[in-house]
Amino acid sequence: MRHKRSDFPEGFLFGAATSSYQIEGQSFGGAGRTHWDDFAETPGNVVRGETGARACDHYHRYAEDLDLVAAAGLDAYRFSINWARVLPEGRGAANAEGLDFYDRLTDAMLERGLKPCATLYHWEMPSALADLGGWRNRDVAQWFGDFTELVMRRLGDRMFSVAPINEPWCVAWLSHFEGHHAPGLRDIRATARAMHHVMLAHGTAIQRMRGLGMGNLGGVFNLEWASPADDSPEAQQAAARHDAIYNRWFMGGAFKGEYPALALEGLEPHMPKGWQDDFGTITAPLDWCGINYYTRRVLAPAPGPWPQVQPVEGPLPKTFMDWEIYPDGLHAFLTRTARDYTGDLPLYVTENGLASSDELHGETIDDPWRNEFLDAHLDACRRAVAEGVPLKGYMIWSLLDNYEWALGYEKRFGLVHVDFDTLERRPKTSYHALAEALKG
Ligand code: FCB
Repeated sequence: MRHKRSDFPEGFLFGAATSSYQIEGQSFGGAGRTHWDDFAETPGNVVRGETGARACDHYHRYAEDLDLVAAAGLDAYRFSINWARVLPEGRGAANAEGLDFYDRLTDAMLERGLKPCATLYHWEMPSALADLGGWRNRDVAQWFGDFTELVMRRLGDRMFSVAPINEPWCVAWLSHFEGHHAPGLRDIRATARAMHHVMLAHGTAIQRMRGLGMGNLGGVFNLEWASPADDSPEAQQAAARHDAIYNRWFMGGAFKGEYPALALEGLEPHMPKGWQDDFGTITAPLDWCGINYYTRRVLAPAPGPWPQVQPVEGPLPKTFMDWEIYPDGLHAFLTRTARDYTGDLPLYVTENGLASSDELHGETIDDPWRNEFLDAHLDACRRAVAEGVPLKGYMIWSLLDNYEWALGYEKRFGLVHVDFDTLERRPKTSYHALAEALKG
């Protein structure tokens, strides 16, 4: 890698991120069923019908995995807590084994000098709550608040930072409008409700954690740069609408107490009653803002019902996800976020990375694309820092190759290779390059 730790301000945090369903193994330790199990077991939803039943077996191998985080010289580990592992029915009786697991995991991070950065929802809605409507049901905010309190009464004293919900756009739009993720709906009314309830649940969880006296609480938003396909006013409008739905809805909700007009124009008729009165909760003050950034999308107008936007293929080189590589988008989001939404609040890049091919050379697993990708995005971070953006850390997605949702185990995002037959972990060349860069 071209970068080294000393290229960044003193105290800048480097971390790696994972999430529970993608690595733990849902079939272990008394975890309940989730809507991801239901979605994955429905033919056609996931490549090869793969599920997270075993995943990376992190549930049993977490010590080895945290050794890898520490040996890379990373400062922080971003992980998530599986709602259905803690509360198999989503509410009611807790699974003691589940809480004990996160307790051990937390202590294991601290023993290795790693800062625990928790996320409370990285997409495993307990099936029992999905039966009641999941994100479509307003009660989800209180169910989630109760789960948050239960977990943080146990772990809250040892967390470095906590965010309630990973990537509200994916929770709401991708899963209820595009149908690509669980619960796999394609329904505008469900979408409008999920878009609002996910923000209400976010604010409710923040309030509950404040009630426990906790600090360093933030939000984690996935942002995708929207580029118009051409100079026409129609294409500009399509890109602006995508930006409103994808990015500005969540940032506007959390930091300004408003949703953008360009998104409300389609969603307002489908919003739950009284939504305008919820911003007091939704804007519960945060201590930091996390940005997950991967790519941009090129957009053109489309016929048919709102939002009349369609993606078109862009000209830039792409990762194995077919996502364009566009580091300027990260720089643009860091500066725009500070300018339009968060001011002096600390920002973190909470996810950035790529799926790439691994080449086996003797004992070495070579992934040259990863170094290049990370360097280009670290450049974008450095430029933002130089311009005064209060960026305080950068986390790589992901520590391990893992269950990449609807794409199953096919797309490999890890610094560490996982053999999904033997479960053997083998650091790739990018892992070693990163460890070298972080030394000293
Ligand atoms: C993000 C998700 C993460 C992973 C990466 C590739 O949207 O937060 O779980 O799937 O994309």
